[in-house]
Amino acid sequence: MQDKNNSDPLVVGLAGFGTVGKGFARILEENQAEIFRRAGREIRIKKVLVRDVTRARTQALPPGASFCADMDELAHDRDIDVLIELIGGIEQAERIIRQALDAGKHVVTANKALLAEQGEELFALAARKKLFLGYEASVCGGIPVVQTLRESLAANRLTSILGILNGTCNYILSAMTTRNMPFAEALKEAQDLGYAEADPGLDIDGVDSAHKLALLIRLAWGVNYPFRKLPVSGIRDITPEDIMFAREFGYNIKLLGHAYMENDRIEAGVFPTLVPNSYLLARVGHSYNAVRMEGNAVGSLFMHGLGAGELPTGSAVAADLLEIARGGKANNRGYTSGALPAADILPPETASARHYFRLTVEDKPGVMRDVASIFADNDISIHQVLQKGQSRTVPLVFMTHKAKALDIQNAAKAIAGCAFASAAPVYYRVLPPPGGTD
Ligand code: NAP
Ligand code: HSE
Repeated sequence: MQDKNNSDPLVVGLAGFGTVGKGFARILEENQAEIFRRAGREIRIKKVLVRDVTRARTQALPPGASFCADMDELAHDRDIDVLIELIGGIEQAERIIRQALDAGKHVVTANKALLAEQGEELFALAARKKLFLGYEASVCGGIPVVQTLRESLAANRLTSILGILNGTCNYILSAMTTRNMPFAEALKEAQDLGYAEADPGLDIDGVDSAHKLALLIRLAWGVNYPFRKLPVSGIRDITPEDIMFAREFGYNIKLLGHAYMENDRIEAGVFPTLVPNSYLLARVGHSYNAVRMEGNAVGSLFMHGLGAGELPTGSAVAADLLEIARGGKANNRGYTSGALPAADILPPETASARHYFRLTVEDKPGVMRDVASIFADNDISIHQVLQKGQSRTVPLVFMTHKAKALDIQNAAKAIAGCAFASAAPVYYRVLPPPGGTD
């Protein structure tokens, strides 16, 4: 990047004019006066990269900007100071970001998939070049959680992060819970509202939450937890029946990402989880996200806000851009060291949690005894039981005390193999109610 005065206009190349790209451009235009007062300089979009420049658009181009379809144009344009990458995906996004950094341009991205999977190389390149690689928009949309972990909580030893990290899944689970909406219909609504990824499997299979969790772990503890090593399960198989039983026990089902630091080891994962109704997390609805963080100095902190959609995400993109416009020193990962060490990972099968277990079994003598004996053989203690309905097969629901993940899996396998089980057991983690520990 040419050296410019801090009062010269900052020139942006915007890659992507979809949900987030349009939201960002709108904020820049509508809030121009506020942004100018804070940045102390004008911010201008010069070029907008899209796949199809001939397509009719629902939103006008930013004033003075033109469309282009050639990726290389943004990196090679000497006027452009900052590349904003909002095309998504891995390969093309990685290429365009790398080209921009090589050309000395700052970068802002909302691409958690890329940063979770290949972030280290890009952060190293940005550090070598002393350039910004901003990514506030990549985690929890409009919630400033990246800034909070990187700057505001920098003097803490973090002990836990727990959160609803995906707006699409929260939208679906909330619609199923409060409006009895079928899963597929709720997903379609989330897609129409612009919350879902281009491949919605990334949302509903928990992968998007895992991408974000890997970034949060990196920010919280300055270590690399390879995203592929995170245990992940999504919400595809959650039924209205499970939502109803959870409510009877006093819980809402949420897709949670969690990371706990225990004895210098990290236990982390993404799972559908029963959250006690009295928790704030249980009441986070619609496409809202929330993150609860615990630091040894600050105590517990709860952030709540819109986790997806054009304006909340565009707001986070604009915040990174403002930081660049003010001309400070880049602090992309929040740690001064070069390569970050690998995380010391607690093997997921040894992690302990309470569990909800739903079995579909024949309603006949001896079934309860056999199930109880399988639980006992696997060191699982039963906390509550519920049986509903009167037909040949019935749902039989258990809430367990804390048990190891491996024991839970083994018990589920053993029950699935019993003649009385007419379907494989369904099981989800449960957060302990306030004051409960085991
Ligand atoms: P989107 O609505 O699908 O928009 C993608 C835009 O990028 C479109 O304008 C598309 O061009 C352009 N594009 C895609 N591939 C391209 C290529 N190879 N060459 C040139 N242009 C290309 O996506 P989005 O929802 O805005 O998401 C963008 C990024 O933000 C993703 O990384 C996503 O994970 C992240 N994100 C999204 C949200 C959200 O709420 N949607 C929130 C946080 C983060 P055309 O218009 O011609 O098709
Ligand atoms: N698809 C993502 C979500 C977008 O639903 O949370 C925000 O990262």
